[in-house]
Amino acid sequence: MAHTSRPTVLVAGAGGRIGQIACKLLKQSSEHFNVRGLVRTEESKEKIGGTDDVFVGDIRDAESILPAIHNIDSLIILTRAVPEIKPGFDPIKGGRPEFYFEDGAYPEQVDWAEAWVCMQFDRFRHQRR
Ligand SMILES: NC(=O)c1ccc[n+]([C@@H]2O[C@H](COP(=O)([O-])OP(=O)(O)OC[C@H]3O[C@@H](n4cnc5c(N)ncnc54)[C@H](OP(=O)(O)O)[C@@H]3O)[C@@H](O)[C@H]2O)c1
Repeated sequence: MAHTSRPTVLVAGAGGRIGQIACKLLKQSSEHFNVRGLVRTEESKEKIGGTDDVFVGDIRDAESILPAIHNIDSLIILTRAVPEIKPGFDPIKGGRPEFYFEDGAYPEQVDWAEAWVCMQFDRFRHQRR
């Protein structure tokens, strides 16, 4: 249950390496913060415990993240474009894997989405003043 007197911090990318650490550390200070996480998929949500304070949304999809950013006080963005290994790589055979980004998930596209999330956060914050 969220305590409204405490600022609510949203960690976007809560299922990632750094995002998980950030959430853990913030929750250790739960007397100071309400912590929310934003992950991209239900699988990521399950991976980090599946609790109600974890929202599922894609930062490139405005509608999907509105519930997560509603009434937050601070935003920590720890998303990043995640490259996939091209099919056919066999670590047993050695060599180096090749990587690719899915369409719409190139680093510059995810960076742009991060900037957009920041703008939405600012807009909501000003509306609340
Ligand atoms: N790892 C390090 O050692 C390190 C050190 C210094 C700084 N950093 C910085 O910290 C940040 C995070 O790095 P990381 O290593 O923690 O990355 P990571 O483990 O690859 O995590 C990135 C997260 O971003 C999420 N994500 C990607 N696209 C998304 C989208 N469109 N909508 C919502 N979520 C999306 C992914 O969600 P899914 O899991 O659902 O795919 C993933 O959990 C980066 O800016 C990086 O430069 C990292």
